[in-house]
This record gives sequence, structure tokens and C-alpha cells, in this order.
Amino acid sequence: MSTTLSDNPKRLATSDILSRKGKTPIVCITAYAAPMAGLMDDHVDLLLVGDSLGMVMYGFADTLSVTVDMMINHGAAVVRGSQKACVVVDLPFGSYQGSKEAAFDTAARVMAATGCAGVKLEGGAVMAGTIAFLVSRGIPVMAHVGMTPQSVNVYGGYRARGRTKSGADEITTDAKAVADAGAFAVVIESTIEPIARAITEQITIPTIGIGASPACDGQVLVAEDMLGIFQEFTPRFVERYADVGEEISAAVRQYAEDVRTRAFPTLEHCYGVDKK
Ligand code: KIV
Repeated sequence: MSTTLSDNPKRLATSDILSRKGKTPIVCITAYAAPMAGLMDDHVDLLLVGDSLGMVMYGFADTLSVTVDMMINHGAAVVRGSQKACVVVDLPFGSYQGSKEAAFDTAARVMAATGCAGVKLEGGAVMAGTIAFLVSRGIPVMAHVGMTPQSVNVYGGYRARGRTKSGADEITTDAKAVADAGAFAVVIESTIEPIARAITEQITIPTIGIGASPACDGQVLVAEDMLGIFQEFTPRFVERYADVGEEISAAVRQYAEDVRTRAFPTLEHCYGVDKK
């Protein structure tokens, strides 16, 4: 059985995240598995089970092949592995854009199966009706505007958005639309800094920046990026806080050498042998 908010009253709710607008910055990080969620839980406010897991965990070229079942499996693991943080799970590409009803069916299934506190979906003004539909039916929604990776084939890449006046206006309109629709927070990804700063001043819900602005109400990073585990490329907006990838490689190199030279295992690692 999954852990749910009602099982654990100490867990932060989406309403707690909303109430942090303009206050201490909200700390958000991605999590895809129980042990990592457990390690990060004490330090962050929000664990995002992002569909970036398609690229980071499954080696896909983009996020488009991620399925609802994948999100449910990883989302449930993150809820089981954490006690305190608010857990939000991404709705994957194709599972919510078709209609409000499709979005509700997917979101309700994800929430029931994982015990997460809310869902995230990509899109601004075009998704406002869907966001209002979900929120009015009991599903807290975190929106995602700016560079939205599920639209990579429309944008032709992952470049920062909002460099032209019309592009900037579009992102601002998107952020206002999702706030008016009832989203409890909005991720702003890879936009020109002054746009994210101005949006943060203008809307009443928290902005969570990634490649956006230090002025946002919170920040999010992909854990494997900031830990140096995902090394395919490092976007400009990532700060490397550790080089865990190098540590993993060094540890496995040592293990391989120990096995090949019979330095491991020793009799201390075996059963039925008297300890001296
Ligand atoms: O999928 C994801 O991890 C995300 C964050 C980068 C915001 O959407």
C-alpha cells in the first residue's frame, strides 16, 4: 500500500508550497527512486518525480517515450522512500494533452497509485482549462512554462526561450494563465532572466526556476545533474555540487581489481568460517 498525505500528517502539502510565495525560497529536486528520496527528504521541500527520468534513468534521447506506468512505479517508490517532502509526479507526454477528461483520468490514476500530493504538466495558456478542470476535481497541479521539454520537436531543441518580445510576452501570458487557472506553483524553465524575474513579481503563485532567475520563489535541479551522475551534457543552469559519477567509477574499478586479484572476497565475507 502506498504512503499518502493522510497517513503522514508531517508531510508538506501543496497548500504549504503555495503559502511560501515571496518567503524563504522553496527547495525542489528531482527524485526517481526510494533510496535517493530518503537521502534528500530531510533537506528539501519538494521532491519532483520528473519525466526527465526517461533520459536520466532509461537512456532515452528525450522525454517523449516515458509512460504513465513508469511514472507510477517511480512515483510510488519516491513516496515510500520519503516522509516529509511534498511529492509531485509529472504527467508524461500524450497522457493529458488530448482532453480535460484524459488529463483527469491520468492524474487521478497517478495520484491513487502513488500517494503523491499533486501532478505537474507542461503548457501555459493552452492548458489553463485543463488545470482548472483538474483543480476543481481535487487534483493539485504544478504547471511548467518556458522551455517545455515535451515540445522539443516543436521548438527544434532545448534552447532558452523568450529572446524576442513576442516570445517573452507569450511566456508571461502562459504564467499568468496557469496561475489564474488554480495551479499551486509553476516551473519556469530556461528563459531569459528578466522574464522570470518579472513573472515572479506579477503572479500570486510560487515560481520554481530552472535556468530562470535567482529571483524565483524556489529552484529545482535534476539530482543526477548536480551530483555529477548524468554526464551526457551539463546545461549552463546546472551547478555541480558533487562528482558522484567519478566516485562510482572509482569504486567499481577497485571492486573489479579486487575480484580479479582475489583480494575480495576474503574468508571474513563468508559463512561457516570461524572468526579469529
Ligand atoms: O522532468 C523534470 O525533471 C522536470 C524538471 C527539470 C523541472 O520537469
